Amino acid sequence: MSEVKMDDIVSLAKRRGFIYQGSEVYGGLSGTWDYGPLGVALKRNIMNLWWKTFVEDRENMYGVDAAILMNQKVWQASGHVDTFTDPLVECSNCHNRFRADHLENDKCPACGKTGSFGKPKAFNMMFKTVVGPVDLDPQISLPTATSAKIKDNNYIYTVDWTKEKAEVEARSHDEIALNVSYLRPETAQGIFTNFKNVVDSFYPDLPFGIAQQGKAFRNEISPRDFVFRSREFEQMEVEYFVQPDKWEEAFEQWRTDIKAFLANLGIPAENVHEFEVPQADRAHYSKRTIDFEFDYPHKRDELLGLAYRTDFDLTNIQNASGKSMEYTIKGTNDKFVPHVIEPSFGVERALMAVLLSAYTEDEQNGEKRIFLKLPVHLAPVKVAVSPLLRNKPELVEKAREVYTMLKKELGAVMYDDNGNIGKRYRRQDEIGTPYCITIDFDTLGNGTVTVRNRDTTEQKRVQIEELVNDLDLQ
Ligand code: GAP
Repeated sequence: MSEVKMDDIVSLAKRRGFIYQGSEVYGGLSGTWDYGPLGVALKRNIMNLWWKTFVEDRENMYGVDAAILMNQKVWQASGHVDTFTDPLVECSNCHNRFRADHLENDKCPACGKTGSFGKPKAFNMMFKTVVGPVDLDPQISLPTATSAKIKDNNYIYTVDWTKEKAEVEARSHDEIALNVSYLRPETAQGIFTNFKNVVDSFYPDLPFGIAQQGKAFRNEISPRDFVFRSREFEQMEVEYFVQPDKWEEAFEQWRTDIKAFLANLGIPAENVHEFEVPQADRAHYSKRTIDFEFDYPHKRDELLGLAYRTDFDLTNIQNASGKSMEYTIKGTNDKFVPHVIEPSFGVERALMAVLLSAYTEDEQNGEKRIFLKLPVHLAPVKVAVSPLLRNKPELVEKAREVYTMLKKELGAVMYDDNGNIGKRYRRQDEIGTPYCITIDFDTLGNGTVTVRNRDTTEQKRVQIEELVNDLDLQ
């Protein structure tokens, strides 16, 4: 298990502007999180590295960005409407609800009563919504209204509240049922539903993959462990289409590639563990799944999954839509529905593992120091530039000049003149800035600046015009 405590990460994330509780000003909304200026930068760096590694640097990968709202038939065909559930129990004493498989015993964690749980019920985790102005309730429940006109682009109809209530409700319920949609619980279905489009546009040879990054939503019964189990989160997924008899080889290749990517995120291999998920615990679509687990502070838990989804999804789409999802090998009559290997990463869980792996404490001049030993390519700020003293106009002018020059070259550069130089170093260490550059009186004389290294705290002098070449930012 991680030696870093959850509280250390949560408080650093809040203090330094990485992650805040969602809707905090109104008391929060459970299972939602807002990314602050440094959090969004770190998250994007992780997502961009993933996109570069698995899409841009490869020949056979195609990116998509599908709509979050999809036709309800997608979720019926995929099995999510029927089976995307967690077991829910309610305490008959305090009426709090819990995920049955997360309970340690039959004692209610809220009121302490034992034996008060009923039989678990299947709770569907999809967020349901209605698309279009078909939900009549807001209009017809006006207490004084006897009738109302509801207008839509396609039709106008009158609701007679007194006479036709039953009829109108029946009609509205039908309309609503037809217009129900769900916030997607995985990005994968946006890939599967575009399989035919990508094949028609590009006709790639097998194997090839379609990748997508984006938000996913799950109405988790008990969101917890910081961003680990959220109700709104982001996924980075690939559906990798292969010939049915080639799935094992592709599976092994992805296993290797995933490990290399995690190392590139700065996550030590000894904290990552592969767990072969037994059949009874696998998702309904999977014939084989390996969970890549990380030693989080709460416990060793799933960071990402690698699954063999067979032809489950494409065959279901084919059956439900009546459209062929078969692929023909070029120049042959060899036609079949491809099988699929799916590496599925959660951004929040990756970000948490990155923060936990980078979190370091040491002692400098007899004082405890906290710093994030982030890989340079992930650091939200690459370089901080400061004047030694903020009340000396000649130092400020030079510092702004150096800052402007570096910002143009490197982008993620911060001007920092808050507090004294010691405080600035401490703050930059805590957000993982690899280099701090200080402009002092010597700069004005000989054109050199101090460059301080985050990990060693060593300082050296570098000519301003040599800075961009001198900084190791890979
Ligand atoms: N398309 C396959 C799929 O969605 P999953 O194991 O349900 O599989 C994939 O989810 C990944 O998404 C997980 O390994 C995890 O990283 C992330 N994830 C799932 N539920 C999450 C939640 N409630 N909060 C944060 N991340 C979550």
